[in-house]
Amino acid sequence: MNRFLIVLSVIAFATPAYSAVGDAGRGKQVFESLKCGTCHSIAGAGGKTAPDLALNRARGNTPAGLSAAMWNHAPQMWAAMEKAGMAKPKVTSEQAADLFAFFQSARYFEKPGDAARGKAAFTAKGCSGCHTAGKTASGPALAAWESASDPIELARQMWNHAPAMKAAIAAKGAKIPTLTALEMNDIIAYVNSLPGAKPQAKFSPASAETGETLLKVKGCTSCHRGARALPGKTAYTASAEIAAAMWNHAAGVKHSGQMRPEEMRRIVGYLWSRQFDNEGGDAKRGEKTYAQKGCAGCHGSSAPYFAHGEESSSYGMVAVLWHHGPQILRQMKAKNVAWPSFTGPDIVDIVAFLKASK
Ligand code: HEC
Ligand code: HEC
Ligand code: HEC
Ligand code: HEC
Repeated sequence: MNRFLIVLSVIAFATPAYSAVGDAGRGKQVFESLKCGTCHSIAGAGGKTAPDLALNRARGNTPAGLSAAMWNHAPQMWAAMEKAGMAKPKVTSEQAADLFAFFQSARYFEKPGDAARGKAAFTAKGCSGCHTAGKTASGPALAAWESASDPIELARQMWNHAPAMKAAIAAKGAKIPTLTALEMNDIIAYVNSLPGAKPQAKFSPASAETGETLLKVKGCTSCHRGARALPGKTAYTASAEIAAAMWNHAAGVKHSGQMRPEEMRRIVGYLWSRQFDNEGGDAKRGEKTYAQKGCAGCHGSSAPYFAHGEESSSYGMVAVLWHHGPQILRQMKAKNVAWPSFTGPDIVDIVAFLKASK
């Protein structure tokens, strides 16, 4: 075989260019196949012995926090699976990405909003001038908002109709108001609180590769480059952040035309994916945690790397958990060592450590 080809394929395996983006629909199937519903309910349906992971219950968690939550109660999860007569499955990083997208669709990463505050902001920002609870000539009824069930559609709508609002407000001699992410989040909480509302249940970003291209095509990179390059400092897990940013662009900067659903799915896919490339961990701290939590007990001081194609991210830690967690558990029991319990920051530190020791 050609040596050049070997080198190429090694590079292709060693450095996946983008983190997976996942899909909420597929993630729901992963959730079901892992029997999470034995204990957890979703919107009331399912087991009752664990917190409802229902739609529209914002928690403000991080992806690493989700990864940690799964590690922490893994022995419980596996016991439930054994009781149900199931073998413990392996979970790939891609499946973990799907699971994370499913949690995103259930607003797990969103900060809790306040409907009353949202209603007040809705009036203060002039939204109620065109939008009312019932259908009007100038806008759909709030409870019928497609965008309340789909954060990508919300971002698109906020981008698309800001110019019209800017014009309507300018005609009255006023300036378009900006929105903070907190206000956006509260407004969604308000819309979701109305009778007949369709709470968020979707999240299907498109591939990060095509999203990166689109940032150029749409002229985003004319401003967002160098120190301003996207992703910026925002945590893109919070959809409200992106939606508010899309709206605010129309207030100040050049608007590069209406966006089609597919286009916003690509842009959000890129932003969502990039947050997993560097979750901000500290390798030195990770090394300490790795020793403290008993990982080094088997592995020695030299760390393993993500050996089964797992991503070096919170996704990868979910894959590692399902890949060799049962084995860790057996040996820890035999040595009378407690099962490791992690915080979100512990997870990103360990990821940084494993990444650095590659
Ligand atoms: C044996 C029952 C059981 C199974 C099976 C189970 N869980 Fe849990 N889960 C719990 C309990 C109990 C808690 C709350 C106590 C705790 O945190 O340990 C919890 C907490 C959580 C939390 C944190 C909840 C919050 O309020 O933020 C997440 C996330 C979670 N589980 C995800 C999962 C996923 C994903 C699966 C499937 C892979 C799963 N769980 C399977 C019992 C279970
Ligand atoms: C000048 C009138 C006007 C104002 C003011 C206005 N909107 Fe709209 N809005 C519209 C119209 C018209 C549509 C329908 C656009 C379409 O279908 O393309 C719309 C659609 C929307 C949608 C998408 C609804 C769906 O079906 O999913 C959202 C979200 C939205 N507006 C949010 C807001 C927010 C938040 C504010 C205040 C910051 C606001 N709008 C202010 C006219 C307005
Ligand atoms: C004319 C310049 C300009 C263009 C074009 C532009 N932006 Fe921005 N964008 C800004 C500025 C200024 C901010 C505010 C930055 C800050 O708060 O530090 C911002 C903020 C953002 C943010 C949130 C802040 C962050 O750093 O995370 C996002 C997301 C974003 N822009 C996406 C886009 C996308 C997507 C496009 C193309 C459709 C785009 N921008 C086009 C100037 C621009
Ligand atoms: C009981 C001994 C033991 C403990 C404790 C242990 N591991 Fe492992 N680990 C293994 C073995 C054995 C393998 C090789 C598994 C294989 O190849 O199937 C492995 C493989 C790995 C891999 C390579 C990827 C993979 O999925 O196989 C990673 C990453 C890893 N371990 C991380 C950790 C972390 C982080 C901890 C601490 C939470 C830990 N390990 C604790 C025994 C252990």
